[in-house]
Amino acid sequence: MGATGRDTATRIAALRAAIERHNHRYYVLDDPEITDASYDSLMRELQELEAAHPELASADSPTRRVGSAPAGAFFPVRHRVPMLSLQNAFTEEELGDFDERIRRLLDSEAPLPFVLEPKLDGLAVEAVYVEGRFASGSTRGDGVTGEEIGANLRTVRSLPLRLRPDGPLTPPAYLEVRGEVIMRTRDFARLNREREEAGAPPFANPRNAAAGALRQLDPRVSASRPLAIVCYGIGDCPGFAPASETETLEALRSWGLPVVPLVERAVGIAAAAAYYRRLDAGRDELPFEIDGVVVKVDDIASQERLGSVSRSPRWAVAVKFPPRSARTTLRAVEFSVGRTGVVTPVAIMAPVRIGGVEVERATLHNEDEIRRKDIRVGDTVIVTRAGDVIPAVQEVVPSLRTGSELPIVFPPRCPSCRALINREAGQAAWRCTSLACPARLRETIRHFASRRALDIEGLGEKLIDQLVDRGLVNSVADLYRLTTEDLLPLERLAEKSAGKLIAAIGRSRSTSLSRLIYALGIPHVGEQVARVLAAHAGTFEALASAGEDELTGLRGVGPEIAASVTAFFRQPENRRIVAALRENGVHAAPETADPSAGSAPLGGRSFVFTGVMNSLTREQAQALVTRAGGRSLSSVSRATSYVVVGSDPGAKALQAEKLGVPRLTESEFLALLKQKGVS
Ligand code: IVH
Repeated sequence: MGATGRDTATRIAALRAAIERHNHRYYVLDDPEITDASYDSLMRELQELEAAHPELASADSPTRRVGSAPAGAFFPVRHRVPMLSLQNAFTEEELGDFDERIRRLLDSEAPLPFVLEPKLDGLAVEAVYVEGRFASGSTRGDGVTGEEIGANLRTVRSLPLRLRPDGPLTPPAYLEVRGEVIMRTRDFARLNREREEAGAPPFANPRNAAAGALRQLDPRVSASRPLAIVCYGIGDCPGFAPASETETLEALRSWGLPVVPLVERAVGIAAAAAYYRRLDAGRDELPFEIDGVVVKVDDIASQERLGSVSRSPRWAVAVKFPPRSARTTLRAVEFSVGRTGVVTPVAIMAPVRIGGVEVERATLHNEDEIRRKDIRVGDTVIVTRAGDVIPAVQEVVPSLRTGSELPIVFPPRCPSCRALINREAGQAAWRCTSLACPARLRETIRHFASRRALDIEGLGEKLIDQLVDRGLVNSVADLYRLTTEDLLPLERLAEKSAGKLIAAIGRSRSTSLSRLIYALGIPHVGEQVARVLAAHAGTFEALASAGEDELTGLRGVGPEIAASVTAFFRQPENRRIVAALRENGVHAAPETADPSAGSAPLGGRSFVFTGVMNSLTREQAQALVTRAGGRSLSSVSRATSYVVVGSDPGAKALQAEKLGVPRLTESEFLALLKQKGVS
């Protein structure tokens, strides 16, 4: 290998190590050091180098999380150590029985030390590391034999491809780590919303969504689903003999694995009961679904003395929370039209309280779901609510039928514009066929103007209704042709507020590329994907002409998303709207991590500082920014590029969040300066 070859190998190794470290900070520690754009630029550089030097490829490169070819099927794997399940308890009393039982068996008067963990509602898996490298993975299956899903597990970003070599404990030569693959509630809600918009059947809960993603034969599809993993145990690991569960969790942490959150160690069953109550009360606030807590005896010697019965250990118990569902009656069904024209059936029910929240409307998803569950108007139904997800009708109670229940019939015409509705073969959704449907248009504009999209202040639902009903706005581009005079005849709009709205629309003309992409409402493209697409394409034109292959494999972008983006830009109607936006002055600042773009390193960027920084004073930071051609301002506005947040930040940090201005930590700010070559 020549000198250049060696340099390339060194650079590739450095990039791989840096990306792994950033993955760990981002997915495991929740404390990213660099912006998404810088991360993407590292990844892109690595992809390009690996493509140019196939001889330097490696199976555990972070670029290999995605893109491997579909497997034919999953083959069975026998677990070296069976994957046990847990006995359940449903009340605090049953938890007390568990404690008494094990103390009797251990002949112990004294309160026992326990490890307390949330019981995450996902799919149990095992990941195998050989010589510190991710080697394979399997599902739990029946506990004895599971299915090999290594290619899919590899796409789960919080799972390291290499164990951390420089933690307090050296990684073992062979490790089977066990954990739960989950989908966070917000990601789940977004996925289902996008599936509904795209006419695909929704998942019933985050667990099914996670399981569905892991069992995809095409790993690129798994890669596009927002999965996470949390680890709670070890299968086989020769030479590792921890004295307690706590030590096991410590070791997993030290090796860089994401450990189940909210773990506590406590002595005595009363503390376990208190933990159970605390997590139940706070469950809505958690970013993932939990269905109970797991109480484990901490001491491994005691665990061994207790042993197992049938398929579950005697030393642990899952204490389940009361289900978050309730019984009520279905009074009527309404149909609502979304921005891609999907007509969604909505259940109107007798109001009922579920987990402290009154529920009256629930989604019925689509026609297939209604048929599958055989739901009729007048039925007694079970409604569930999971985290902050929209309530859904889970099932009916057929034994309570009186015979007067009526089948649910989809209307032949759009409830909004009376155009025919149509259901294509292979699609679950009925859609309004009119591109001019006011309901679709209203939803499109609402999304376009929303805070995280182009953030047009003052353009609320009532106003949008009027603009659409009066024919003043027929596409999002028409917003930019509005004048104060157009608005004055509208209800409840005085001259001053009309002027303000026109000004707000005007301000939205200059925006970031990622916001503009998100604002278009391309099916399957949420904010995160929009950011990835923006960082990749750099300009709007480049994205509009990108091919499916080019997009597939970007962080979080699978074939479904890639197809949706290219299909969007192929449609003549969408091309017209995009062109009209441009003609009316809407422009996106190119998003690129390339420091050579623009003459001054921070040219065109503005910074607001709040709080105290550790490594430099406010004045020093401001001087660095101005010297590099950036501006340092004292107050936050929507036009601010970044708010740098130190410790003890003031109201500016909150304001940044409210206005959707990106916030940087001190280390992110320093990383940005470094990346731009500012010192
Ligand atoms: S420990 C022998 N800890 O619950 C102990 N399991 O019914 C085996 N689960 O298959 C599991 N969160 O899928 C454990 N913190 C946690 C858990 C957990 C969820 C699941 C796991 C397991 C099932 C047992």
